[in-house]
Amino acid sequence: MNTNVLLPVVAAAVLLAGAVCPGAHAADLEREMEILNKAYKTIKKQVGDPAQKASTLEAVGRMKKAAIASGEGVPEMAREIPEAGRAKFLEDYKAAIAELVGQIDKLETAVSEGRLDDAAKELDAINESKRTGHSEFIKKDD
Ligand code: HEM
Repeated sequence: MNTNVLLPVVAAAVLLAGAVCPGAHAADLEREMEILNKAYKTIKKQVGDPAQKASTLEAVGRMKKAAIASGEGVPEMAREIPEAGRAKFLEDYKAAIAELVGQIDKLETAVSEGRLDDAAKELDAINESKRTGHSEFIKKDD
């Protein structure tokens, strides 16, 4: 087969993959969210205890890594957004995750500096982001 024949075949395969897989990363996203959730619970439990600072910082690190990885994912709900609005939906999703990563950075600084009241407040702000993020980016019938 020469390239004249092969190129359109490859192009068609790429286009098809794009059309079929707008939510291809949904499973990864869900997995990252679960890692994030577990780390959140660990931090919530022990953030007030200065003796557990090192372990809390480790959990914050896991949380941040999972949040960044979540930003690479595509919410399941994207499949249901009409194509014209999908780019905007994904842009909004990525912006929400970027804000979450910023909050986790603040949490990390507060824990590092031993400002545990501020850390607890930041944790509450993260929980609020979860609430708004989920109401905006998870299908209502889930
Ligand atoms: C900007 C903030 C957030 C956004 C935009 C967001 C978005 C999402 C989305 C879209 C899903 C569904 C996965 C899919 O569509 O494939 C999901 C699932 C999940 N998220 Fe988040 N999330 C955020 C923050 C959080 C936080 C802070 C936590 C935990 C502390 C969390 C815990 C979870 C869990 C456990 C799931 C798994 C399934 C479920 O409970 O519905 N999320 N999130």
